[in-house]
Order: sequence, then structure tokens, then C-alpha cells
Amino acid sequence: MCGIVGILGSQPVAHDLIDALRRLEYRGYDSAGIATVENGHLERRRAEGKLRNLEQRIGEDPLKGKTGIGHTRWATHGKPTETNAHPHMSEKVSVVHNGIIENFRSLREELTAKGHVFDSDTDTEAVVHLITEELSRADDPIEAVSEALQKLEGAFALGIVFAGHDDLMIAARRGSPLAIGHGDDAMYLGSDAIALAPFTNKITYLEEGDMAVLTRKGAEIFDAEGEKVERPAVISQASSLLVDKGNHRHFMAKEIHEQPEVISHTLSHYIDMAEGRVDYPDLGLDLSDLSRITISACGTAYYAGLVGKYWIEKYARVPVEIDVASELRYREAPLPKDGLALFISQSGETADTLAVLRYCKEQGQRIASIVNVRTSTIARESDVILPTLAGPEIGVASTKAFTCQLAALAGLTLLIGRARGTISPELEQELVQGLLEVPRHMAEVMADEAQYEKLAHDLSKARDVLYLGRGINYPLALEGALKLKEISYIHAEGYAAGELKHGPIALIDENVPVIVVAPSDDLHDKTVSNVQEVAARGGKIILISNGDEDSAGCELMAHIRVPDAHPFTNPLLYAVPIQLIAYHTAVQMGTDVDQPRNLAKSVTVE
Ligand code: AGP
Repeated sequence: MCGIVGILGSQPVAHDLIDALRRLEYRGYDSAGIATVENGHLERRRAEGKLRNLEQRIGEDPLKGKTGIGHTRWATHGKPTETNAHPHMSEKVSVVHNGIIENFRSLREELTAKGHVFDSDTDTEAVVHLITEELSRADDPIEAVSEALQKLEGAFALGIVFAGHDDLMIAARRGSPLAIGHGDDAMYLGSDAIALAPFTNKITYLEEGDMAVLTRKGAEIFDAEGEKVERPAVISQASSLLVDKGNHRHFMAKEIHEQPEVISHTLSHYIDMAEGRVDYPDLGLDLSDLSRITISACGTAYYAGLVGKYWIEKYARVPVEIDVASELRYREAPLPKDGLALFISQSGETADTLAVLRYCKEQGQRIASIVNVRTSTIARESDVILPTLAGPEIGVASTKAFTCQLAALAGLTLLIGRARGTISPELEQELVQGLLEVPRHMAEVMADEAQYEKLAHDLSKARDVLYLGRGINYPLALEGALKLKEISYIHAEGYAAGELKHGPIALIDENVPVIVVAPSDDLHDKTVSNVQEVAARGGKIILISNGDEDSAGCELMAHIRVPDAHPFTNPLLYAVPIQLIAYHTAVQMGTDVDQPRNLAKSVTVE
């Protein structure tokens, strides 16, 4: 996770910037920095490691500017060195960034050819030199940023200050959250309201595609089309201690919408952006000689593992044995000598998963775990930790942790495939590029949320709902069914679409909505045949696809359009519609979305 802050103040801002950065510690960091505008010039202090190192640096060499930006960084692409720490800057502009600039390599080449000198291996620095280049054309910061934003691809949040402008800060949001704080003759910018809690609780949340021009008198906000818009200011309940819902009604909604940002962070942790290849810690095994991988988890984490099975077997050609932890731990499954056992857990405290981990360790397996809490028991008992950078997940129904688990598994697939020679460097670059586009595609899927509210109204009347998917979409059908039943209490089942005719089709009538996960992949046509089998029996079909509405050749109850994307990345993308269907149906049902009955966020008992 990364955190952004910015202050246009009436006093020197260095201390307050550090204070705000400290409130973003829950996002973690391994380096931090601030930049200020002083006497028309840009000054910067950065430090590797904990925030106190930056504080010490500033104590030794103070900053006096009343306009400034700050950033925390945590294990993103590029080594956590001072050179890679934000803010990045030229003589004219300084930038803090949260997210991924997908096209930064081509921008870097273009700008280097124009004489710009890069001194870090981050994607962010491309933004600095792009704005600098635009400023050399027209010395108008607003115009320069507006032009630069049109050349950026990816999901990001930006905070920008300029030499010679001590009453100006520009912010931009595309896929990663950004909030503006309203003060008295002061204005603030932060990744969330928590960072700004000490200064103000009057918050305006920027929306997708917004650019904000801040002065001490206030903010002018422009939408993605460049039209001036009004965004409401709300009174935030954030305190420096609590994780805040932001402007969402439930934590689950916030966490669904955080996915572009946290997927960016998780991918950046495992992808060497400069090289366009995966970069994992040593798993302590000869990956070219793996006879089999054992995966175990529970609930949603298990469905993530099931997606991982399809990926690893298809791309890395290694057999994968996967089972829910509560079963694997008792069936005394024979395990390969020197095998790899992989555990997936958001909380890292799930008793069933932990018990299997201990069983596998006793059987001499190398233990790797994909966890969201690095200090958890499962993490501590693993030989290798593969963290998800989802940040705290408060909603009991797992959403952002699930897609971050998929991101970690996708990278692991590439790593094993590279070691075994089943994935060429060219294919690795192609699949990495596909992954880097996921945050933007996810943001596009979330843009039209009204359709889910209408669909939820219809679904809330159902007694039973079926989810269908073939191949790698089958785990998504299982996850969709779990999401719906655990928060709306409507009975739902996920089936392999090809299984329908072997019994479940007896359930189909006009009262049973059938939700079909059907991207245009190599099994799409077979899935369409299953859709028509359902239609022929009066079933009500909700099609989730990147094709046209009439691609199923039958009448639909609803069609949810997902952007065209690399087939490798479909599981991450199609997770969003199934999460939103469950969320809006639960809201329609009036259930406790964040804390559904009978459930707990972490099941630490058998
Ligand atoms: C998912 O929405 C549920 N809350 C539940 O299935 C959860 O995924 C399961 O209990 C595993 O939890 P863990 O990831 O913390 O191990």
C-alpha cells in the first residue's frame, strides 16, 4: 500500500505532513519522503525505512515551506531505496503517486530521447518528466497536468506541487482513492480521511477521473471530460485510529472499490516494472523440479486457490492437489517428497488452514503462504510469506483480499512457468502487461453501479440462485454463490456449467435466476450452449461477459458487460461483478452486510 498527503498551509507544513504520514502507517511503508515549495524552489527530504528516519533527516535539515506533499511507500516495484522513494521531482515539479502507470516504459523512452534524465526505476518518475515536458511547452501548471493525464494509462492517484507556485496543488484520481480536506485558509489532500483527521473532518472525495486544483481558498474540480463539477463535502467520522468507510455505506462497498488500488500495490510488489517480469522471494525450492503442488485454504481463499490450480496446471504444467483445509487435514493425503505446500488465508489465523499447514510441515513439505496479515500465525509458521497488499479487510465477506490473492497466484504461476521453461520471456511480458491493465479494467467495471441496484431488486425475490462457469470461471461461480448466500442469506449454488445437465437442471424454472460467468475464452461457446439449455426451461439468465447482449442467443434477465481483457486476467476482473451482485442484493434484503449473521471475519476454531 502507499499513502499520499498534501498541505497548503499558513505555517511550515513539514511537521504536519509527517503527522499525516504516521496516520497512514496501517498501509505500511518501507520508505517515505516529503517535498515543499520554498522561496519559489522545490525542496525534498527522503529516507529509507521507518518514518522516524525521515523525521530525523528533517530534524537535521529542516524544511520551512508552507506548501508540501508527502508519501509512504511499501514494498512496491523497485527496491525500497531512498532513490526510489517518493516524492519524485524535477526542478519544476514534484509528484507523489499511488497506483501503476501501465505505459511508463514507453513514456520513459520517449522522454529520455527528449533529454530527460531519470534517476530512479519507478513508474512515477515518468509522470514528473511528462509534466515537466508539458510545462516547457506552456508554463501553465493546470494545462500541463491536464495534457499529461491524457497520456497516462493505468490506475493511479497523484499529488503535485510546482516550483514558483506556493498557493497551488493539483490532484488527480483514476482508480485509487483520493480525498480533499477543507481547512481555514488551508487545504489538504490525502489517500483517505484518516490521514487528514488531525486537520479537518470536512472531506470531499474525488471521483473516478477527477482532477482537482487546490489553493488555500478552496478546490476547483474537473471531471474526466474536463468539465468543472461540484463534489459534495461530507463530515468524516474518521479518527486517527479507526479505518474509515470513506464515502461508502459499508466497509464491503469501500473494499470492493479499493480493488484497483490494492491490486496495483500487490502486483507492484511482485512485478519488476522496469523489466516487465515477475520478481518473487526465493521459495527455497528448485521450482524446475516440482512434482506436484499442494494448495489448501477455506471459503473464498479456497476458491482463489482453485483459480491458482487452473493457472499453474495450464501455464506451468505442474499438477496441483487442492482441497479445503477441513478435509485435507483428516484424509492423510500422501504428499510428495520435498513438495511445496501453499496456504492461502486473509486473516492468517484460520484454524483449519493452520492445522493443515502443521500437518504438511510434519510431512516434510516446504511451506509457503499467501496472507494479508504478515504478523499472523500462518505467516509466522511458514517458510516463505507471499503477502497480499490489500490493507485491512473489515467486511466479513472477503472481496479485495480475494482478488489480491489471485494477483499473488498469477505472479507465482509466471515464476514457476519461467523456472520450468513452459513460459517464454515473451509470454511472460505479455501476461505481465495483461496484469498491469487489471486495475484500470476493474475501475471500468465499477463505473456503472446502477445496473446492479436494479438487478438486486429482482434477485432479492429469489429463493434459489445458481451460478455457472466453465474452466477457470468455475471457481468464480463458486465464489459468487458464496458471496451471495453469506451476506443476503439467499440460497445459492455454484456449478461447473457442464455439470448442469447431470442433475441440477431439474431445479430450473422461471423462479430460479441463473448467473453465468462467460468471458470470450476457449470455453465460451460451450457455456453458451448451457445458457440455452437453461433458457429452454424458462430459467432467468444473468450473463456476465465481454461479448454483446445477444451473444447468448436467448433472452436475458440482465447482461453485465465486462471490458475486453487478456484471458489470463479474467478471474480478477469477473470477481468484481459477482461481488457487486451480492453486495447490492444484500443491501436490498436489508441484512447486516459487513457483519452477516452466524459468521466471523476469522474462524479461529475448527
Ligand atoms: C469469505 O467471504 C468468508 N468470509 C470466508 O469463507 C473466508 O474466506 C474463510 O473463512 C477463510 O478465511 P481466511 O482467508 O482468513 O483464512
